[in-house]
Amino acid sequence: MCGIVGVLGKHEVAPTLVEALRRLEYRGYDSAGIATLNDGRLDRRRAVGKLVNLSDLLVHEPLPGKAGIGHTRWATHGAPSVTNAHPHQAGPVAVVHNGIIENYRDLRAELAEAGIAHETDTDTETVALLVRMHMEKGESAEEAARSVIDKLDGAYALCFLFDGEEDLMIAARKGSPLAIGHGDGEMFVGSDAIALAPLTDRITYLEEGDIAVVTRTSVVITDRYGNAANREVRKIQTAKAMVDKAGHKHFMAKEIAEQPTVIGEALQNYLSDDGTRVDLPQEALNFAAYDRLSLVACGTAYYACLTAKYWFEQLAGLPVDVDIASEFRYREPPIPQNTAALFVSQSGETADTLAALRYCDGRAARILSVVNVSESSIARESDLALPIHAGAEIGVASTKAFTCQLTVLLLLALKAAGDRGMITTERMADLLSALRGLPATINNALELDGDFKKTARRLAEADNALFLGRGLMFPLALEGALKLKEISYIHAEAYASGELKHGPIALIDKKMPVVVMAPKDALFDKTVSNMQEVMARGGKVLLITDRPGAEAAGGDAWITLTLPQIDPVLSPILYAIPAQLLAYHTAVAKGTDVDQPRNLAKSVTVE
Ligand code: F6R
Repeated sequence: MCGIVGVLGKHEVAPTLVEALRRLEYRGYDSAGIATLNDGRLDRRRAVGKLVNLSDLLVHEPLPGKAGIGHTRWATHGAPSVTNAHPHQAGPVAVVHNGIIENYRDLRAELAEAGIAHETDTDTETVALLVRMHMEKGESAEEAARSVIDKLDGAYALCFLFDGEEDLMIAARKGSPLAIGHGDGEMFVGSDAIALAPLTDRITYLEEGDIAVVTRTSVVITDRYGNAANREVRKIQTAKAMVDKAGHKHFMAKEIAEQPTVIGEALQNYLSDDGTRVDLPQEALNFAAYDRLSLVACGTAYYACLTAKYWFEQLAGLPVDVDIASEFRYREPPIPQNTAALFVSQSGETADTLAALRYCDGRAARILSVVNVSESSIARESDLALPIHAGAEIGVASTKAFTCQLTVLLLLALKAAGDRGMITTERMADLLSALRGLPATINNALELDGDFKKTARRLAEADNALFLGRGLMFPLALEGALKLKEISYIHAEAYASGELKHGPIALIDKKMPVVVMAPKDALFDKTVSNMQEVMARGGKVLLITDRPGAEAAGGDAWITLTLPQIDPVLSPILYAIPAQLLAYHTAVAKGTDVDQPRNLAKSVTVE
């Protein structure tokens, strides 16, 4: 949440800052701003709302300068306004910040006692005011920044720029990611490598507690104890970090369409060359060593974990607990002996998931993670991190990361089934063969786009919707409802089909579409009974099933969408496609902002 960038350049930096912010806009779009050294003096431009407003402002009020910092905001402290927009400046210092300074009230009080008032409601201005105070006491820019960073509690990625210091930026990281980009006589700072991809492919990731003193030709990093730290300069694959819509109208549409390819890549990475074995070194991960598995995540990643519970329990006989990270971290759950803890996160930076991981450190027998960003905090703090290979996901609503998470989790469940001797050679071969065919099957489902679009036009007229699913389809129903509400703003709830009669059935009337996700599996007949209960009360059923399911259900549903047939174990991955495309087309029909839905941001680095 919030994206930050800094550039010590050879040329005018305002366009570079804005372009980098464009690539970070998925992290927040409540306001945007930049500060540069204009003739050695700090100068700022800030605008409320999306980055385009800042770009427009810069056309009328350009900002010269070869050194600058920038910010795109997801508001935490203080409403979105120009005053509260970053960069924040106090005299000779300007700062951009991602995170939350938890002790800012105490620090504000300290400043108030010294007669120093705030102009904004933000925690970040406190940082700028403190640095100014230290500089007024005679400390150099670097000394002042270090003194203040020492006092901060909470999470931060910070980048400072100072009056008269044309060749200096100070960057610091604790709890929020930050990368330094090495150029040729230029240096960059960014919240992630994606922001810096067009500028350089040489990246240094700061570690927790690091402070970097950056000039155009050098980076000197100290660790949390103030000791010199040698951090690796990595060459990143800029192609993977490239961000464009590839001809699609939205990033979300592009990312939905990419799923056959990225799932194929995930499979390639975790299957033996001939595709007949899950290929993870036995010494790295042996599920026979564990009695329990604890899965923890947030949002869509949590629904991936709920799905995985069915897989691990049914295929591998391994008992699984699934938790929402924000609950888990404060519940202080006892972790039974021989429990492996597995954290699932696209960004790898979600604050609650990271805190849950840290709670398990020293308590769980093993810390595993399934992440999209390999350099993320969650990946780095795990004993074993398994990347999902989805590539950069820019649409705020998660799509391809979800199906890649599911793919990797299913492969892990199969590995567990093998390790624990719970699966026959034939069943393993069948499921691996179905997995190898999955990209093609998903392609076939994507070809039904026209049907989803037509259906979505009718869904767009609803104010509310219910999603139902049983067994492996229950988490998918939850994901379908989340996708619909977050991008189309239609209120949607999901229930396990069997729960309907315990209360939610009271909601059914002629206006309520009920999306039933039900391939013709062992539980299908039970779901059809629940569907009949809805229709008997005038509810409009949108049945998503396969051909045998459509035939068995008869033609009573309001709308029936027929997907390709697949082994029921893999159905959650396939049924994610209609969940995504229905939400996408409904949002487009309603004219909402698909890629940047209101109030949301990707990479939730605050609590
Ligand atoms: C919904 C969505 C969110 C994320 C959640 C966790 O479409 O994207 O619910 O799944 O914020 O994020 P990560 O996976 O980055 O930990």
